[in-house]
Amino acid sequence: MNSSSASSKPWEHAKAGSGSGSDPLAARFVESISYDRRMFEHDILGSIAHARMLADAGLISDSDLSAIEQGLEEIRWEIRADLDGWPGWKVDLEDVHMCIEAALIEKIGDAGRKLHTGRSRNDQVALDLHLWLMEACRVLNDELAALCRALLDLAQRDGRIVMPSYTHLQRAQPIVLGAELLCWEQAFSQCAQRLEALPVGLRISPLGAGAIAGSSLPIDRQASVGHLNKLLGAGQRGDAGFEAVSDSSIYSTASRDTALDALYGMSMAAMWLSRWAEQWIIYASTEFGFVKLDDRYTTGSSMMPQKRNPDMLELIRGRCGNVYGHLVAMLTICKGLTVGYNRDLQEDKRHLFAAFDMVRDSLVMARRIVESARFNEDRIRAGLERGFLDATSLADYLVLRGIPFRLGHQVVGRLVQLCEERGLTRLGDLELGDFNRIAASLTGAEGACDESVFEWLGPDGVVKRYRSQGNAGLDGFRDRLEARRSYWAERVRA
Ligand code: ARG
Repeated sequence: MNSSSASSKPWEHAKAGSGSGSDPLAARFVESISYDRRMFEHDILGSIAHARMLADAGLISDSDLSAIEQGLEEIRWEIRADLDGWPGWKVDLEDVHMCIEAALIEKIGDAGRKLHTGRSRNDQVALDLHLWLMEACRVLNDELAALCRALLDLAQRDGRIVMPSYTHLQRAQPIVLGAELLCWEQAFSQCAQRLEALPVGLRISPLGAGAIAGSSLPIDRQASVGHLNKLLGAGQRGDAGFEAVSDSSIYSTASRDTALDALYGMSMAAMWLSRWAEQWIIYASTEFGFVKLDDRYTTGSSMMPQKRNPDMLELIRGRCGNVYGHLVAMLTICKGLTVGYNRDLQEDKRHLFAAFDMVRDSLVMARRIVESARFNEDRIRAGLERGFLDATSLADYLVLRGIPFRLGHQVVGRLVQLCEERGLTRLGDLELGDFNRIAASLTGAEGACDESVFEWLGPDGVVKRYRSQGNAGLDGFRDRLEARRSYWAERVRA
C-alpha cells in the first residue's frame, strides 16, 4: 500500500488523503475482483474493440494499438493459464477492469495509459455484462435443448406406457407417459425461447456511453460495434452480435434491464425444473413406484440402511428458491437508484453469476437423471384400474348417445357411487342394466347405453379414443413426438 500522501488507486488523484485503498476493510468492502474476474475474456474483448475504434478515430496511433492488442493478448493467456492465481488481481484495484488496465500499463507503459480514452468503467462494465450474458444465454439454451432431447429419447422409448394423470394430485384421466414427458419438453423449450428472445436487448451496445454523458472526443460508437462483431465472429457461426448502439448514454449506464430479463428467464427455467423435480420425487416414492432413479442420483441415509433419497431432485427443487432470491435481490437493488451509475449496481454480478451457475448445473443434473431413469410399467399398470380414470370417457359416451353433458356427468357420478357401494373398483364391472337403470332414472332416457359402452371403459381403450388436437392420449403423443423430433433435429442442423 502507498504512503499516506497519495491513494494507492491510480485513479484517485483528487484525494488529499490516502484514499479508499488505505483501510483494508474499505478495500475489501468495495472490491469485486473476487467474483467479477470471470468476465476477464469479455473485458479484454471489449477493450480490444475500443482500442481499434480509438485508432480508427486517430485518437491513438497504430503502434499504440498494436502494443495494446499485444499486451491484452498476453494478459488473456496469463489469466487463462491460472484464473485465480494471476498476480494481476490486486484488491486495491477493485475490479477486473482496473486490474487488467493496470497490468497492461505495467507491460506497455504509455500506450496502455491511452486505452481508457473516451471510456468509463460505467459503460465498460455494462458492455462486459452484455457480452457475458450473450454467452450465458447460449450456454443455458444449449443445456435446455439437451434436456429436451433427453426427454424426447425417453418418450420414444417408454412413451406408450399408459398411466394416470393427476389434477389436484388426485387421479384424473388416463394418459400415456409420453404425453407427460412432452409437457416437460414443451416447458423447457419455451424457457429456451424466452432466453433466446433476450439478446435483442443485449444486442444494443452501451460502449461509448461513458460515465453518464458520453464524450466530447470524436469517438465512433458504430465503429466500436463493427470491431466488437468482428471479434465475436458474429454472423459467421450464425451468432448474433451487436445490432446498434444505445440511444441514451444515461439509460445505458443506469440500467440493468437485460440482466433482470435474464434473471427472470433463469427463474422460469428454475421454476419448471422444480415442478418436474417435485413430480418425479413423488413418482420415485415407494407409494407410487412409477420411476426408478439411477443410484448415482440418490443418496443413502446415515442411519436408515435401506434408504434411497432423491436428493438431487430435492436440490433442484430447493435451489429454485435461491434463483428467485437472486431475481428479487436484483429488482430490489435497482428500485431506489437515481439514474446514472451507482455502486449498488456492482452487486448485479453476484446474483447473475450465482443464478446462472445454479440453473446450468440443475439443467445438466436434470438431463442425467432423465437419461438414466427407468419407468416401471408393471407398477404403473397395477394401479391403473383404481380411481375411475375412465369416468370422463363414459360421460363423453353418454353425450354421443344424446344425453346432455351435465346430466351424463350426474349419471356417471351416480355409477361411481354404485361401484363404491358394491365394493367394485371399475365402472366396467357394472352390468349394462345398471348403466341404463341409472341413466333412465336421472334423465328419463330409456336404453341410453348398449354393449358398446364397455369399449369406452378401461384406461387402455380411453387413451386410444382422445381425438382433440394436442391430446394426452396415444395419437396426440405420436403426432407430437414426431413434430418435436423434427423441430430439434432442424435446430441442430441450423
Ligand atoms: N466494478 C464496478 C461494477 O461492477 C465497475 C464500475 C465502477 N464504476 C464506478 N464509477 N465506480 O459495477
